[in-house]
Amino acid sequence: MRRKVIAGNWKMNNDLKETQNLLSRLTSGISVNNLNCDVIVCPAFTSLFEAYTLLKDTKIKLGAQNMYFETSGAFTGEISAAMLKSVGCEYVILGHSERRNIFGETDELINNKIKKANASGLKPIFCVGELLEEREAGITEKVIEKQIRSGLKDISSEEMGNMIIAYEPVWAIGTGKTASPEQAEEVHKFIRSLINDKCGASISENIIIQYGGSVNNKNARELLSQKDIDGALIGGASLKADSFIDIIQAT
Ligand code: 13P
Repeated sequence: MRRKVIAGNWKMNNDLKETQNLLSRLTSGISVNNLNCDVIVCPAFTSLFEAYTLLKDTKIKLGAQNMYFETSGAFTGEISAAMLKSVGCEYVILGHSERRNIFGETDELINNKIKKANASGLKPIFCVGELLEEREAGITEKVIEKQIRSGLKDISSEEMGNMIIAYEPVWAIGTGKTASPEQAEEVHKFIRSLINDKCGASISENIIIQYGGSVNNKNARELLSQKDIDGALIGGASLKADSFIDIIQAT
């Protein structure tokens, strides 16, 4: 039985004060040391240390939304894996469709980031997902297969045991249009079969595959009840304590 993992990707929202307010509502609204699933929050870089301080006596874990793969040096504006570790991060989201589509991140760059995260003891939440026109052209599986194979190139089975994969159909992100539970399950099952080809049954049966894209407190329960959907990566609905708590409770 895989334990569900609910993660909040705050994206470019919440300054320091707003982070304090949201985390205080979150930690007072749930039993933070007795969760029935794993919970991760991923604030902006500028709020990470504050979030670490506020969450360190709880079971809620901390993640970042991005990092660069080099160790240090002349990379203006970038953040390293060691920096994220030093402010208490355990996870890092990599390959989010907003990074791919707005900032031009390639599969190769994402692969380098995944390798560095693994080597640094950070757990990647590796995002994949097709565009609307790709789904309509009937090439969803082809797109996902390429993203998975390239993103996970030269990643060992042992490292795979450390990772979370998030399936986020791009057309469902921030649009209010979620994949149906059946549509999502179909792709999750396909991703698990790709991991089985790459690393065998034990890793593929244990790897957490989250769904993301307009998950809210109304649709979470049905999505999370699908066999291969092991959690959710949540944008908008993670910015309100009440809706995020409802989703946690839906597990
Ligand atoms: P929304 O939940 O706002 O659609 O965002 C999903 C997402 O991109 C999480 O990473």
